[in-house]
This record gives sequence, C-alpha cells and structure tokens, in this order.
Amino acid sequence: AAIAKYVTPLAVPPVMPSLSAAGDPVDRYLIGVRRFRQQILPPRSPATTVWGYGSVRHPRTFSSPGFTLEATVDRPVLVTWANELVDGDGRHLPHLLPVDPTLHWANPGGGVRGRDSGPDLTSTPGRYDGPVPIVTHLHGGHNLEDSDGFPEAWYLPRARDIPPHYATEGSQYAAFAAGFADRTGISWRPGSAVFRYGNDQPPTTMWYHDHALGVTRLNVYAGLAGFYLLRGGPSDLPAPMLPGPAPRRGDPAGTRYHEIPIVIQDRSFDADGSLHYPGSRRDFDRIAGPYIPHSDLPPIWNPEFFGTAMMVNGRTWPYLTVEPRRYRFRFLNGCNARVLDLKIVTRPAAKRPVAPALPFWQIGSDGGFLPEPVELGRLLLAPAERADVIVDFTRMPQDSELYLINEGPDGAYRGDPRAAPADPATTGQVMKFLVRESVEPDLSEPPDRLALPAPGPLAPETKTRKVALLEQTSATIAGAPPTAALLGTVDGGVRARMWSDPITETPVVGSTEVWEIHNRTVDAHPIHIHEAQFEVVDRQPFTGASRSPERWETGFKDTVIAYPHEITRIRATFDRAGLFVWHCHLLEHEDNEMMRPYRVTG
Ligand code: C2O
Ligand code: CU
Repeated sequence: AAIAKYVTPLAVPPVMPSLSAAGDPVDRYLIGVRRFRQQILPPRSPATTVWGYGSVRHPRTFSSPGFTLEATVDRPVLVTWANELVDGDGRHLPHLLPVDPTLHWANPGGGVRGRDSGPDLTSTPGRYDGPVPIVTHLHGGHNLEDSDGFPEAWYLPRARDIPPHYATEGSQYAAFAAGFADRTGISWRPGSAVFRYGNDQPPTTMWYHDHALGVTRLNVYAGLAGFYLLRGGPSDLPAPMLPGPAPRRGDPAGTRYHEIPIVIQDRSFDADGSLHYPGSRRDFDRIAGPYIPHSDLPPIWNPEFFGTAMMVNGRTWPYLTVEPRRYRFRFLNGCNARVLDLKIVTRPAAKRPVAPALPFWQIGSDGGFLPEPVELGRLLLAPAERADVIVDFTRMPQDSELYLINEGPDGAYRGDPRAAPADPATTGQVMKFLVRESVEPDLSEPPDRLALPAPGPLAPETKTRKVALLEQTSATIAGAPPTAALLGTVDGGVRARMWSDPITETPVVGSTEVWEIHNRTVDAHPIHIHEAQFEVVDRQPFTGASRSPERWETGFKDTVIAYPHEITRIRATFDRAGLFVWHCHLLEHEDNEMMRPYRVTG
C-alpha cells in the first residue's frame, strides 16, 4: 500500500541535554547508540526498528535522527560515545541489516577477507551475526586524529557473549585511545570512546554520523546520524538578524521554532514496517554498473542505494505549519547515495520541471556563511552537503499550501538534474508547508539585506596534488573486492589505490594545497575531506575551459560534487597533523574502496 503523505507533523530534533554543571568550561555529553522502535511511517502503520543516538542519562532522548548538539565557538565539547547495541541480557545485538563480509570492513572477528568472519559468532554461512562495530565522525569539524572517527578506530559494545579476541583486534581505536589518554588524561573504557571537539572554527551546520569501515552505509541507514550546530564567536550574526533557534529544554517559548534543521533521507520499508536494505544484488539489477561479483559468497553489496520513500527528520513525508514570516532551515542531504534537487512549489505532483513558487536564500553551506546571500530557485544537494537557507513566507496568504519537491534523479547522478527527475508521485515529493496566521512580529532582517561575515581567503597554495576518481572491477585490480568506484592518483599515469595501500596524500602541517580531482567515471561523486574546510577553485572539463564555482559554493566547503569527465579543483589548508581520510560520500562507494587514508605530516 502507498504510504500516506503529509499526515505527520515534522519532528524537530530537540537539543541534546548536556551533563555539564554551571561553570564547567566544557560541554560534556554521554551519548549512547541503542536499538529501539520509532514511528517513522504514518500513525496506525507499523513502527520501525532503528538505531539511534541519545543521552544515556535520559532514556527518552533516543531518536533518529539524534537530538541536536548545540555547540559554541571556542567552547570545547567532550562526548563519550557509547556502543550500547546489546539486548536486555547483556548479549550483543546483531546488525539490523545485511553486512557484506566480502568487503574490506571493520570485521571484529578478524576473519579472512572474502569469507565469513568470526565463525564462533556466525550462525549462517556468509552472514555476519557478530557484535556491531561503531565509531562516530563529526562531519565538518576541525579536530585531532584521535577524535576524528577514523574508520578503523571502531569499537564494540560491552557484551558478555563476545570472545576476548573480538574486543580490539583489527581496530586502531586502542592506539588512538592511548594517544588521547596521554594528551588529556582520559583513559579508555571498553564499549565507548571519548572524543573532544575544539569548535575553533566559524559557526556552521555540521552533523555527526557513524563511520565504521565497510559498514557506514548500513550504520547510517539504520539511523545513526544527527545535527551538530555551532554558534557564536566573532563571525556569527547577532541573534535578532536571523530567525531564532529552537528553545532549550524547559524554555517557556514553547514549540514555535523559526530555525529548523531538516535532514532528508530516502528509505524503503517492508510491509511490516522494517527498514529495507538490499541483502543481495537482485534488488538493484536495474542499476547499470561495472559491478562484477567476485567471490564464492553471494554478493550483498550494491553500487548505490535509492529508496522508495522520503523521510524528513525521521518521519515519512511530514508537514510543517509555518507562520507568514521568515524561517531559517538548515538543510542536510542525509541520503546514502541520492542527489537532491529541491524546489518549493504549489503543485507537488505536477510534471517536471516545475517553476518555483518561493526562492531559497542561501546564506551558508558546509563550513559557514557565504560572502553574501544567494537567491536560488532550486537547491542542489549531494549526500553530506548542507545548505543554511532563509525561506520567506511573509507574503504567503493564510491557509496557503506549499510543497518541498525533489527533481533530482531516482538513480545515479551524472550532472544533469533534469535528465530523469524522481517519480513526482513518491520520491519527487519531500514535505509540505501549511501557512497559518502570525502570532508574533518577525524582527529578523529580510534575506536580501543581510550582510554576512565574509570568510577570509586562504593563503596561496604551495603544492598542487592530482587525485583521481576511477571505476574499475576486480578483474583489473589484483586482490580487489567487487568494486564500483575507487580513488587513485594522477602522477605519471593514473593509478588506482586501495584503502590498504600505502598513503599517497601527505600534506605538510600548516601548508595550503590545491587538490585536482580528476573524475574519470561516468557519475558525479561528492568528495569529502576530513577536518579541512576548503575553497572550491574551479571546474574544468577534460577537454574545455574552466568555469567558476557555483554561486552557492563561494563559502567554505567540506564536500564538493565532482562531475564526470571533469577536474574539480579545491584549495585547503591542512593545519591538523595526523591520520585522516578523504572519500566519496555516496556511502556505498565509501564502503567499497572509494575512500583513502591521508596523513598531515610534521
Ligand atoms: Cu560524513 Cu567521512 O564523512
Ligand atoms: Cu562515489
């Protein structure tokens, strides 16, 4: 049966309760990952079993997406991230979704690649039933390696049925934890990790999500994501200029929020309400790709996931009642692989393309404010990209209805959003706005008159580094698993590099580099570099002239769309020494070799 649309109000993730006492110079959190049920589908439909984050001391805070971490510029945040994926008897919970043990992955049992892992905990051949590794990454942050959420720095829950050799084997977390303990005096308690976020960066929209090697697509799809909003400091706008944030817990201002974080994620559901993620290649045969099964196990991994339903803040197709005033929306594309092309229209099911009814005024992106507000009829967002946007409903008549639609494709994105817009009846719709009367005056500045704090330019680069996005199959790379996409180097010839190959990207600490991303594949890939905000310099077709970044790419970014058959140039200062990663943020690609470690040296 079709899922009814616009029957559930939009859920606004509340602020995560901090455990800090008054006068504490640090914001402290104890955040667990648990399994629970949530009403994602409309009322009277079955609830969905998900994973989510929550404050361990406040059981009712567990939700997906997680509650929002509200942080302040230059005020450190200390989070204990606890893996609580255990049942009531203290035994480990298996994964909610089919793990592909043929990939290079966290693999807590340390089994042989291409075989099942940890036979002592695996009841079904080829199926991993063991404890779930997790590690959290703050996407967009500016932190040290021991708090980055390196994909091999995973850890397991403290469960009584896990054999001792599962606890740390194969994980680099123990090494990072030792370094962290030396630096901070905080030592490692099994089952959790303590990460420190310094917040020494401009105010912006970030998000936290799981990043365990080879299962990130599954852990995030199961629900492990949430917002992290950084505010304050000299480069934030004074409060009255922008529509206001959600009140803190216990704030009498009630339930009227004029600043709302909105994460859009596509999902598929089975008839019993459970999350559907393909457990075999069969589900997605309609996707053309270079994938070649190369294993004696049935293939599980698929090159990309595209769901059949749109979920916003953990509910399918919600509605939001708005007043005729200005709203600040912090949009995040939290999909595994779907590129969104958003528009606000009056007729949601109309044939595409539709003319916009209201513009988006984009004021910020991944790394902070843009130099000036940009008026946009459409908002193009690849997975992991954020857009800080003002939508002005001031002139909308009472009782008018507006819809947020998606004209991006229901499949791989190749650069032309109009090529095959999503089904206007389902994934082509996202949410609805219902305009009601105003209850208080709007004191915010009209978006076209907002003066934004311009970010300073980076120093000139001292090095240009050429890297490649490639598509190859296991037939051409010795030892590779079934592979859709890879990263590589362009250095006297293009060469693919596996996750486990020696590190090739080694910027010197403090240096500024231009990275030329040569996309030799047929798809667009959102490329993300950890712990560095960069400028988009330009894009250049392999055979043609370069063009400037898009108007909405003129601030700092941490994720950039690299189009097929083009060079995308970015400029970054690498000022955190340590071991990090850069990768494609299509989660299926990231989980299967489209990710590389890099090291900032010095
Ligand atoms: Cu949003 Cu490496 O991650
Ligand atoms: Cu990719």
